[in-house]
Amino acid sequence: MALRKIREIGDPVLNKVCREVTEVNNHTRELIEDMLDTMYEANGVGLAAPQIGVLKRIVVIDVSPEGNEPHILINPRIVETSGEQTGNEGCLSVPGKAGNVTRPMDVKCIAYNENMEQIELEGHELLARAICHELDHLDGHLYVEKVEGELMEVKHDEDDE
Ligand code: NI
Repeated sequence: MALRKIREIGDPVLNKVCREVTEVNNHTRELIEDMLDTMYEANGVGLAAPQIGVLKRIVVIDVSPEGNEPHILINPRIVETSGEQTGNEGCLSVPGKAGNVTRPMDVKCIAYNENMEQIELEGHELLARAICHELDHLDGHLYVEKVEGELMEVKHDEDDE
């Protein structure tokens, strides 16, 4: 297990547009393992590669209470959205803060897995929110740009994405 340093708001790497992945090799697999380790260690429900300083279109998400349902999304794109939800959001790159963001209630996403096979992931509620949040990271966007009202201080980070 290898933990990587999580970049924080103000680090210019978080505002860059990430590159598509063209090949999954051992280096990529190691990166994905490290992303999962880093996300679980930080009690996050999602992590995008730029958050550890790698400008590749890869995200990992796990919104399960037990933390045993990882989704690995390479070159993900949202192809369908419906409904709306407004709720609290946080980010491992914005420690100690949270704010209200409106997102779709349901999203359908197409991506590739570690074997570069195309997969489809449908997310509802928290998973939909996490998919939107993480995909925004790949285009250099943080949720703080979308917060409605004040960005709030939080004591715990278990809701961080
Ligand atoms: Ni985030």
